[in-house]
Amino acid sequence: MIDRYCVFGHPVAHSRSPIIHAAFAEQTGEAIDYTAIEAPLDDFAGAWRAFVAEGGRGANVTVPFKEEAFRLCDTLSRRAQRARAVNTLILGGNGETYGDTTDGVGLVRDLVDHGVALEGARILVLGAGGAVRGVLEPLLATRPASLFVANRTAEKAAELAEDFTDLGDIAGGGFDAVAGPFDVVINGTSASLAGDLPPLPEDLFAAGATAYDMMYGAEPTVFLQWAAERGARCRDGLGMLVEQAAESFFQWRGKRPDTAPVRELLRRSLSAS
Ligand code: ATR
Repeated sequence: MIDRYCVFGHPVAHSRSPIIHAAFAEQTGEAIDYTAIEAPLDDFAGAWRAFVAEGGRGANVTVPFKEEAFRLCDTLSRRAQRARAVNTLILGGNGETYGDTTDGVGLVRDLVDHGVALEGARILVLGAGGAVRGVLEPLLATRPASLFVANRTAEKAAELAEDFTDLGDIAGGGFDAVAGPFDVVINGTSASLAGDLPPLPEDLFAAGATAYDMMYGAEPTVFLQWAAERGARCRDGLGMLVEQAAESFFQWRGKRPDTAPVRELLRRSLSAS
């Protein structure tokens, strides 16, 4: 039986993961089947069990199931424990479920592969929700000089940062506590979805700074437009999407795909849509 993989979400029809993993499979010569499955909101664990019974070997997990996936795992990677969320499920030899989160490593790889120095950098992360929690451990592992988490609800940022103080120089607060300049500014809020821009000071960016939005679309987000106008180098989250998928693929198949052509493929299909 062909090894089966899927992405679970609700809704899930929009997911680009099947396109990405089909491209990875073709490139690496791995015979796998990868589909999108809309799990019921009230029984994610049941959907995973049913998938395994039908030959499922692993899965990606997207909104809104990442926390539920975290709870059903028998064992977890250290970074998934920190993130309290799982985007990659792996079926072990004894039928046990192992959980990992590859979002943060995907973000870091996309930045580093595109020449963004993180070691020694002054990093600002905007937002304090699940998406941000998922990337803090890999970001701190790159040994930045400092990392400030800024959020509309200041206490959430302070509490989130507190959970990571053993890993590096990290603090959190409201947008009014943002004191630049920064070398790297990462937008992990969902403000871009609504076309909103967090209130940010004019002197946010150091010379040569990079602005990164974890969101992506056919057009640059308002945050990236604002950053470009202030001279920052800009990247959107399409690269992170492909890199997190590549890391999941590596965990399942032991092969590391070449991400550049897949990123180009997605960029072309975004522009055409
Ligand atoms: P996700 O899983 O995508 O992180 P989430 O946990 O709901 O989603 O978090 C959304 C984040 O975007 C939060 O940091 C939220 O700020 P609050 O904690 O103050 O709610 C932030 N956010 C959403 N809309 C925003 C907006 N219009 N301006 C600024 N921040 C916004």
